[in-house]
This record gives sequence, structure tokens and C-alpha cells, in this order.
Amino acid sequence: MRFETKAIHVGQDPDPTYGAVSVPIYQTSTYAQPGVGESKGYEYARTGNPTRTALQEAVAALEEGAGALAFSSGMGAEATFFSLLQAGAHVVLGDDVYGGTYRLVSKVLAPSMGLEFDAVDLTDVEAVKKAVRDETRVVWVETPTNPLLKIVDIAEIAEIAHEVGAWCAVDNTFASPYLQRPLTLGADAVIHSATKYLGGHSDVVGGVIAANDSQLLERLGFLQNAVGAVPGPQDCFLVLRGLKTLALRMEAHCRNAGRIAEMLAGHPKVKRVYYPGLPEHPGHDVAARQMSGFGGMVSFEMETEQEALDVCTRTKLFFLAESLGGVESLIEHPGRMTHASVAGSPLEVPATLVRLSVGIEHPEDLLEDLRQALA
Ligand SMILES: Cc1ncc(COP(=O)(O)O)c(C=O)c1O
Repeated sequence: MRFETKAIHVGQDPDPTYGAVSVPIYQTSTYAQPGVGESKGYEYARTGNPTRTALQEAVAALEEGAGALAFSSGMGAEATFFSLLQAGAHVVLGDDVYGGTYRLVSKVLAPSMGLEFDAVDLTDVEAVKKAVRDETRVVWVETPTNPLLKIVDIAEIAEIAHEVGAWCAVDNTFASPYLQRPLTLGADAVIHSATKYLGGHSDVVGGVIAANDSQLLERLGFLQNAVGAVPGPQDCFLVLRGLKTLALRMEAHCRNAGRIAEMLAGHPKVKRVYYPGLPEHPGHDVAARQMSGFGGMVSFEMETEQEALDVCTRTKLFFLAESLGGVESLIEHPGRMTHASVAGSPLEVPATLVRLSVGIEHPEDLLEDLRQALA
């Protein structure tokens, strides 16, 4: 079965009770049992819910994993994933990893469980080889990265992680499984903020982890229930509905972002454009190899911070907002918004940077909006 078909059919057979073709929202916290010690597959809704099961099966199929687990947010997924580790474990992260991931590792897990970490440039293979050690349990990859859109060679990093017995975990939020499937490139786990492209309509917060190894999946399943950062059935329904159009949406996001990146690259007021689809992007060749499209995120730098702030407030169709991956275009200033939590850390982003989440509106309208904001 091909991607578009899986997105609509896997885990989503008509409901056995009345034949509903849309997976019902099982809005229940518990399930009546036929007898003591017997069940119809579900006992309590933190442990399992049929709407959640449908979402998990669909995401597993799209990521080409043996299984997947859904969470109440991307950070819920990440916190649960890191609960796999023991006190004193070491983690290697990218040096422009999502600010929330850095905050979780540096401000929560490092002080609470003695987690040690190094943030390195994952595009520099020698630096990664130097950073990993016997205690390294996870090399956490994001590609493309947020907000500088660096491209990391997943296969290469997975190999280095495996040499020291660590897992390679890939945050696939920016690419989505339509453009990139890390498990097929050697990664051990794929993490998503389902809030973004998977949901796709800026109306739900959610997270997912997909994996292949049955022991890892079993442990993550245990932690999903034990930690309890689970999504409600309505949220699972919304992500499932989003998945059905993921392929169509990603095609449009890529097409529009490519046009916008080209326009920005030729604009006299724009100092630098970050988009892996541009041939001059340092990660272009790796992106062309491991992704089937270059995604819907574009970042660019203006000459000054004030100019960057001005552009952010002058667009009309691009809403000034955090988050990304929805059908509507968004613009933001990472230094003062999404990445304010890494200010003063080695992960600080340029103050002149603007980030776009390019939506699926008509490209000419988006280009006109940006041109007038830059004028
Ligand atoms: C790349 C990336 N990973 C993880 C997250 C966290 O996801 P959530 O906001 O759903 O908790 C985000 C949120 O912006 C993100 O951009």
C-alpha cells in the first residue's frame, strides 16, 4: 500500500458497531468489562483508547515502523522518550535543536536525573564522533532543524550512535513522514510534534513516537501508561483527520516554500535565506538524497533586528504566531518568540532572523504579501 492510501486506510476500517467510515471519538475514561479479569481489549483510557489506537497504527504505517505511540504534546512524547534513560546517562543533541527540547534536557533532566549532554553541530561528523562516549544513550537529531534549517545526514549519525550502543532518535516534525522516513535510514525512534504537519490545521496539540524494535516499543508503551502524557480521543481524531491529507498538503507546502525562498534569495533587503531546496544551501545534497521534497519552512535574515521585527508585523496573510505546519502561513521572530528560551545559551539564534511556516494558500498571494512587508 502506498503512502496516500495508508494515510486514509491503516487503522481506520469502518467501525464494527455501525459501520462509521470515520473513526469514532471514543469519549470514555473506562470500559464496562464482560467479567472479572476479562475485557474487550480496553480497560482504562490512560492505558488505551480505540481512537488513539487508530492514530498510532496509521502513524506507524506512515513512518514504516512496527509501532507508534501517541502523546498529549510533542514535549510529552519527548519527556516520555527520555524516561527510557537512567540517571547519569549522556545525550548528544544538535546545537540548534528546538528550544523546548534543549530546555527539557538542560533545565529539567540534567538537574533532576543527572543527565549529561553535549550540544554539537550534527552536520560535523568529526564533532559527533568526538562527542559520543560509552555512556551516550541517545543521539537526538532534528533535520531540518528549527529555525536554521540545517540538514543532518541521518544514516551517518545513526551509524555513529550505534557504534557506542546509543539510540539515534530523530525529531521528524519539520519534514513529516511524507518527505522523510528516518527509520528506513537507520534511526531507532522517530518523534513528532503532531501539533504541526501531522495535524496540519493549527487546531490540536499532540505528539507521537514511532519505532521498529519490539523491545523499545514495549518499553515505550509501558512508559506511555506509567507517565500518563496521553492524548484525549478528540485530539487523536483531529490528528487522524489531518493525516488523511498530509500528502496533498506537503506537496503544496513544498511548492509554495520553494517559490518564496527563490523570491527572498533575489530580494535586495534580504541578507541571507535558509531553505534546503536552494542549491547553495550547505545541506542541499543530503536533503535531496534523504528527503523527497524540501519542506514548507523558510528562514531568512534581514540586515538589522528592527528590520526583522518590522517584516513580522507588516504581513497580512502570514499571521504573526508561534508554531508551524498548518494550512495557514505564519511568520515569527525566533529570537524573541519560539527561541527566547535559548537566549544567552550556545543555541541563541540571530536577532536578525525571521522564520516562515509557508501555508497552502495561493503562492501569488503569499509572494505579494511578503513583497509588501519587505518594501
Ligand atoms: C521541532 C519541534 N519538536 C518538538 C516540538 C514540541 O512539540 P509540542 O509543542 O507539540 O509539545 C516542537 C514545537 O514547536 C518543534 O518545533
